[in-house]
Amino acid sequence: MGLVLGIESSCDETAAALVTSDRRILAQRIASQDDEHRPYGGVVPEIAARAHSERLTPLIAATLADAGLGLDAVDAIAATAGPGLIGGVMVGLVTAKALALAAHKPLIAINHLEGHALSPRLADPELQFPYLLLLVSGGHCQILMVEGVGRYRRLATTIDDALGEAFDKTAKILGLGYPGGPAVERLARAGNAKAVALPRPLLGTAEPHFSFAGLKSAVLRAKQTALHADADIAAAFQQAAIDCVIDRSRRALQSADMPTALVVAGGVAANQAMRRALEALAGEFGLPFVAPPLALCTDNAAMIAWAGIERLGQNDPLDCAARPRWPLDPDAAPARGAGVKA
Ligand code: KG4
Ligand code: ZN
Repeated sequence: MGLVLGIESSCDETAAALVTSDRRILAQRIASQDDEHRPYGGVVPEIAARAHSERLTPLIAATLADAGLGLDAVDAIAATAGPGLIGGVMVGLVTAKALALAAHKPLIAINHLEGHALSPRLADPELQFPYLLLLVSGGHCQILMVEGVGRYRRLATTIDDALGEAFDKTAKILGLGYPGGPAVERLARAGNAKAVALPRPLLGTAEPHFSFAGLKSAVLRAKQTALHADADIAAAFQQAAIDCVIDRSRRALQSADMPTALVVAGGVAANQAMRRALEALAGEFGLPFVAPPLALCTDNAAMIAWAGIERLGQNDPLDCAARPRWPLDPDAAPARGAGVKA
């Protein structure tokens, strides 16, 4: 049986976890920085890096203590090496390198997006390759065919904002504070989605790409008219976003070789209304729908440790680089549009 220590520090969560090859999370700790970033309405990279450097080492010590284990018990140390805010990534990766050197353990440099992409396999032992993955987080919005560990075919990406970013900006416009996704979802429950007409960018286009910048601007205009209740705007925004996600995912399912399952991962996968809509879509195609539990959707170290389990045997050099950008599918053609994001 394998045991991996995972470290995550690419955004605003400082996290460590111990995960076994038989899918047990022996211990995990997450220190959120919401309080530090809230006054600024979003993550401030410099503040994030400083917070990671203060918290990460004691957090790892506490995680090992929770499991009653020392570093000698682990088979490898896996850390997010990108993509993400580079200061935070460097803190996590350098810490992992130092631990690997001191404890004579292999270092496994993990792509944070691969952590999200493989996290459904930690939660569900039945999930087999290839599966169609909707990866929706604060920084990314992609549809990928996950063909195996390290084998990802990107079918779609966003030409402007990520979906989580759109939720966060909507929250800011509505004065809901940071982080925005859960607050928008809560307010949307009290609203009428039909009360505000909002656009569905790229709906029906042949390639299953995403665009959310126009939707965000429409939310801003709806708010500025002062004609609508905030709850109605939140509900209308969430419904428009879900309609886009469902249309784009349906298009991907129609164009791809049939996968074993429709899977969603990343922070926005915590959204219950979107999960229900995706479950219905999977049903249309006779596919199982797999979504990790909420704690595995938002950033965490268990998914990084699990990616390390999937990659046991790998030993990255101690001079491997922290990478601000690191596409899962380097061969994917860029999407059309002005502000293309990986
Ligand atoms: O995966 P994640 O924790 O961090 C990144 O790698 O980006 O995703 C965070 C994103 C944020 O934009 C947050 O607003 C969004 O996920 N999010 C949600 C919900 N919970 C988190 N969006 C919509 N509904 C939610 N319930
Ligand atoms: Zn993430």
